[in-house]
Amino acid sequence: MGESKNSAPKTAVSRAGTCRIGALILILLIVSLSAEIHAATVISPDGRIRVEISVGDDGHPQYRVNYRNAVVVETSKLGLRFASHHALAEGFELAGSDYRASDNTWEQPWGEFRLVHDAFNERSVRFRSNDGPAREFVLVVRAFNDGIGFRYVVPEQPYYKDVVIVDELTEFRVASDATAWWIPGRGWNRYEFLYRETPAADIALAHTPVTLKLASGVHLSLHEAALTDYPAYVIDQRRDGVLKTNLTPWSGGERARLTAPFVSPWRTIQVSPDARGLLNSSLILNLNEPNKLGDVSWVEPGKYVGIWWAMHLGERTWGSGAAHGATTAETKRYIDFAAANGFDGVLVEGWNTGWDGDWFSNGAIFNFTETYPDFDLAQVATYARDKGVRIVGHHETSGHISNYEAQIDEAFDLYEAHGVRQVKTGYVADGGDLRWVDDAGVTHREWHDGQFAVNHFERVLIAAAKRRISINTHEPVKDTGLRRTYPNWISREGARGQEYNASWSLPNPPSHNVTLPYTRLLAGPMDFTPGIFDLMHQGADSEYRVQSTLMQQLALYVVFYSPIQMAADLPENYRKFRDAFRFIQDVPTDWEQSIALDGEVGEFVVFARQQRGSDDWFIGALSGDEPRSLTLPLDFLDGDRRYRATIYRDGDDAHWRSNPYDYVIDTQTVTKNTVLDIALAAGGGAAIGLSPL
Ligand code: NOJ
Ligand code: CA
Repeated sequence: MGESKNSAPKTAVSRAGTCRIGALILILLIVSLSAEIHAATVISPDGRIRVEISVGDDGHPQYRVNYRNAVVVETSKLGLRFASHHALAEGFELAGSDYRASDNTWEQPWGEFRLVHDAFNERSVRFRSNDGPAREFVLVVRAFNDGIGFRYVVPEQPYYKDVVIVDELTEFRVASDATAWWIPGRGWNRYEFLYRETPAADIALAHTPVTLKLASGVHLSLHEAALTDYPAYVIDQRRDGVLKTNLTPWSGGERARLTAPFVSPWRTIQVSPDARGLLNSSLILNLNEPNKLGDVSWVEPGKYVGIWWAMHLGERTWGSGAAHGATTAETKRYIDFAAANGFDGVLVEGWNTGWDGDWFSNGAIFNFTETYPDFDLAQVATYARDKGVRIVGHHETSGHISNYEAQIDEAFDLYEAHGVRQVKTGYVADGGDLRWVDDAGVTHREWHDGQFAVNHFERVLIAAAKRRISINTHEPVKDTGLRRTYPNWISREGARGQEYNASWSLPNPPSHNVTLPYTRLLAGPMDFTPGIFDLMHQGADSEYRVQSTLMQQLALYVVFYSPIQMAADLPENYRKFRDAFRFIQDVPTDWEQSIALDGEVGEFVVFARQQRGSDDWFIGALSGDEPRSLTLPLDFLDGDRRYRATIYRDGDDAHWRSNPYDYVIDTQTVTKNTVLDIALAAGGGAAIGLSPL
């Protein structure tokens, strides 16, 4: 500030004025200095998101989030409570902070986009307390353009060594009239529930991601990133609109057992002016640590078929007997189909002993190296290799972790020896029923998302990585972006997938597939297993069926991102619709870039993705309960080129219930200036391939 500009003429009157101004400046300076001690802020690179970190009257750390000058998360508490140590809660003061800005781009080995832009401003805020034993912690807060993340860092210090966390106090205070999409937390069926759409005030225990739409139209997603050696949290509604973290407990009641120094996972709030913006966020990935595995060229995206749906239809069995699915002959039949149609893998479930009887409850007897007599692993692996196909392995544990971990090295060695590069694991057990046996022979029962399970899943990834094997976890802990750190965590389930459309459950309603992209899929790839062509497999009158049109089954390959995608139906059903099947053969699973073009939670969604290493684009659109007319500008295409568009769309009379097989496939020449008009049926979809001419 220029001195001369502010100096007044030196008269008696103006001297008195100068004195008053000087005093005022001094007071303002003192106020602002002390304000700095009580609050710290961090603002996103685009200036739209502002996080204020402070302490309340009782010295309780807290934060608040503004977006475009409106509060989106009201002042919310932070902190941790321990079993036998003073809490990180009341009685703290803000002792200072460090600031840094970062703007990088990093490359994914595989993914929905190759390059990821990671730009944020970060403030590390130090909190200190002398109320009780001297202790401190740091809250690291990052503000990105697409949301925020913050984590607790508890440094090494005399007071905290080995601690047991009994409660995390982090709150997200949101408008209680916001619309929320959520599934129940800590339920028997893990993450496999239908989403509920309710006012935020009606959220009970809920798994994250929880999606919220505020009255202003702003959308939020509450979740977490980089969950390692710590329990997951579920959202617990306290007073209306006060959504608090509730850490999943150990069987003994503690929430986390830790030794300082330690960090919590990032608590994340993605923020977008609309639903579509949430789909274009890469915040969860950006908050994970870089690849720890080094060369991961052996992690192979691709498409697979498998001995799978026949069991879910009840036509075959996992266990032995006349209807046994995983026989050598049947596996060869699938390998032939895979080789003839360009698939990379054949999943084989039920080849190892332990499936007979009530396999849901028999986790202790699975043997991961012993085959049923009608299955010859060496023979099918060689047969597959000769045809350019790989066997995709399977480890169903039924939640008996000790039985699995006791065999894990031999189990992965066996697969490695037979050229298996991907293993699907499974943890079918009710929530709270993962079993492990301690040295004294006592059996403990844990949640799928407690600290025990989180650490187990990491051990499996590391054991698999040693053998250059990738893991696709079913009944997993929720995804928090660890695929960045462990690129061999290639996919997972963790929601109601296609399996619910088989003959053992009432199906997913049409609204489900247009809710998943805005909820579960914000966390990361999902092995949904699309591509069921026999939509009424129990007959036209049965309720047990798929509630979508055939075209929606195609569109799912583009919309539901996963680097591995199954063509889930029986080979014979694909032969009935050769022309539609062509799209499944053509669609890739690894992308240069992905753009969510349009959508509303629970109503519809449209994605465009560019194939990695190619100039081809693919578009997928899904509708929910209602039919919809889409207007689709193709302005993301390269400006100088003409493309041949192959459009797979619902016919004029299509409807998921009455007419799911009415479809049209046509081609058209398009450019960047083309606007496509596409009609989607109820429960419908459209899938489009675009190749430069
Ligand atoms: C549940 C999985 O989601 C499904 O894909 C698998 O076939 C069964 N468990 C058996 O492991
Ligand atoms: Ca499942």
